[in-house]
Amino acid sequence: MAKKKMSILDFKKYKEEGRKFTYVTAYDYTMASIINDSETEVILVGDSLGMIMLGYDGTEAVTMEDMIHHTKSVVKGAPDTYIIGDMPFGSYNESTQQAIHNCTRLMKETGCDAIKLEGGAKYAELIKAIINAGIPVCGHIGLTPQTTTSLGGFKVQGGTPESARQLIEDAKALEAAGCFGIVLECVPAVVAKAVTEAVSIPIMGIGAGPDVDCQVLVTQDLLGMYGNFKPKFVKLYAKLREEMVKALNEFHTETEEGAFPTEDYSFNKKVDING
Ligand code: KIV
Repeated sequence: MAKKKMSILDFKKYKEEGRKFTYVTAYDYTMASIINDSETEVILVGDSLGMIMLGYDGTEAVTMEDMIHHTKSVVKGAPDTYIIGDMPFGSYNESTQQAIHNCTRLMKETGCDAIKLEGGAKYAELIKAIINAGIPVCGHIGLTPQTTTSLGGFKVQGGTPESARQLIEDAKALEAAGCFGIVLECVPAVVAKAVTEAVSIPIMGIGAGPDVDCQVLVTQDLLGMYGNFKPKFVKLYAKLREEMVKALNEFHTETEEGAFPTEDYSFNKKVDING
């Protein structure tokens, strides 16, 4: 049975009802269609595609064209799942016009349901303008991968009373600006709980402990596909990389030994080559 696609109004409703949900990444048609077959409510076409799909060390080099290309294929693969497209580094911080222009492009050229961008209270005015232009916005605070250079690396955020209070202020400012939800990345669980209790829109946590409204993970991480590195907060729900390498090696061995393809995997129509 096809699942019912979440609407933007459901985000607040889920929080009011205390109903938890999941939010995972996808960057291509096949993975999106697999996720669409699951009970997952939300897909993020994250700029983490820089690492996961393109092999970069970070997200900074990802372009609008990369995001549009990948988001289009995810939208095709997951018609029953709410899809959020990520705004890449440098695509929304030059001016309000630039931000509205690029957010509109991502929505219009891909058919995604909303956009996500990184930044706290300082971005509230900009976010208000984007929302006024008719574009639903998901916020992202805590560890913001596009600015890891300024943050001094991939580090847990909100670890001091001042920075924890700042995260609460950021979340309140994003809620007041009109965001329908906020990703909160890599913060102590106790801080994430306080942020979650401070706002009435869902806090979608990644590395933010159990007391948030929604859990976010990179799909290739949770399925055990991405071999390069495993953050502490990632639980491996499968070890697909091992399974995939095993399958490829079986194919290789059977090919070397002439065991593949058998008649079952061949077209066996008799053809008289000399006739
Ligand atoms: O790009 C991404 O995958 C993200 C998640 C970590 C939330 O922003």
